[in-house]
Amino acid sequence: MAESGDSKTGKRRYQEPVPAIDVEEFRKVVMSRRSVRRFDDTPLPEAVLDDCLDLAMLAPNSSNLQPWEFHVVRTPELRKQLAVACLDQNAARTAQVLVAIVGRTETWPAHCDLMLDSWPEETMPKIVDNYYRRLARIYYRQGPLNVIGWGKRLAATVAGLRRAVPRGPFSDADMKVWAVKSTALAAENFMLALRAHGFDSCPMEGFDEHRVRRLLKLPADGIVVMVVGCGKRAADGVYHPRIRFGRERFVKVH
Ligand SMILES: Cc1cc2nc3c(=O)[nH]c(=O)nc-3n(C[C@H](O)[C@H](O)[C@H](O)COP(=O)(O)O)c2cc1C
Repeated sequence: MAESGDSKTGKRRYQEPVPAIDVEEFRKVVMSRRSVRRFDDTPLPEAVLDDCLDLAMLAPNSSNLQPWEFHVVRTPELRKQLAVACLDQNAARTAQVLVAIVGRTETWPAHCDLMLDSWPEETMPKIVDNYYRRLARIYYRQGPLNVIGWGKRLAATVAGLRRAVPRGPFSDADMKVWAVKSTALAAENFMLALRAHGFDSCPMEGFDEHRVRRLLKLPADGIVVMVVGCGKRAADGVYHPRIRFGRERFVKVH
C-alpha cells in the first residue's frame, strides 16, 4: 500500500532502468513449465537452486512484508519422509529436492522493523515511514480472538458508508489469505526460474499438513502453501498434453 515519491510536490521520483526483453524467451519458459510427476536422476545444482530461490523472493508481495519461507529438503532421509507425507506421490518420491513453501502470518511486525531499517535511499519518505511505523501495524494486528479485527470491521463498515475503505484483513483467517496470496506468487516465480534454468517442478497440495509441519518443525503461524518437487523431467515425466479451458470462460472485460 505504501508509495514513495510525491506527485503533488513534483519532486523527482526514483527511476529504474528497464532492460529490453525477448517475449518469446519468456513464452518458452511459461509454455514449457509443466507439472512433472516423474524426475530423472540428474542432480539439481546448489547454485541453480539458490538462484531460483533468490528469484522467488523477488515476487511482488503485500506491503513488501515478504511473508514467506522456503524449507529446502535435500538430505535423502528427510526427503524420503517428506515424500511419504506427500502421500507418496511420484512427483515427491522421484524429486531431487523438495521445497516446502510456507506462508507466515506473524513475521510482519519484524518485517515492518526491517523495512524501517533497510530503506535503500538516504531518507525514507515520510509516508513510507508512517506506513511501517504506524499504519501497517494497525492493518495487520488482529488481537486475541480477533478483537482488534472486530473493531476495525465495525469502523470500516461505518466509514465505508461514505467512502472507499480497506475491508480487511480483520481476522486470523484473513491473515492466512493475506500470507498465502504473496507466498503463492513466490512459488510461481520459483517454478518459472527452475524452468528457465532447464529444470522442472511439480507443485503439490496433496500432503498431510500435520506430518509436514512436524517433519520440518514449522512455526505455529506457518502455512504450508505448496510442497514443490524439483529436478529434471524424466522422458515420461509429463503425463498428458496441457489442458486449459477457453479464455472466454475466464476473461471478463468491463
Ligand atoms: C496449489 C496446487 C496444488 C497442486 N497439487 C498437486 C498435487 O498434489 N499433485 C500433483 O500431481 N499435482 C498437483 N498440482 C499440479 C496441477 O495438477 C497442475 O498444475 C494442473 O493439472 C495443470 O497442469 P500444468 O501445471 O502441467 O499446466 C497442483 C497445482 C497447484 C497450483
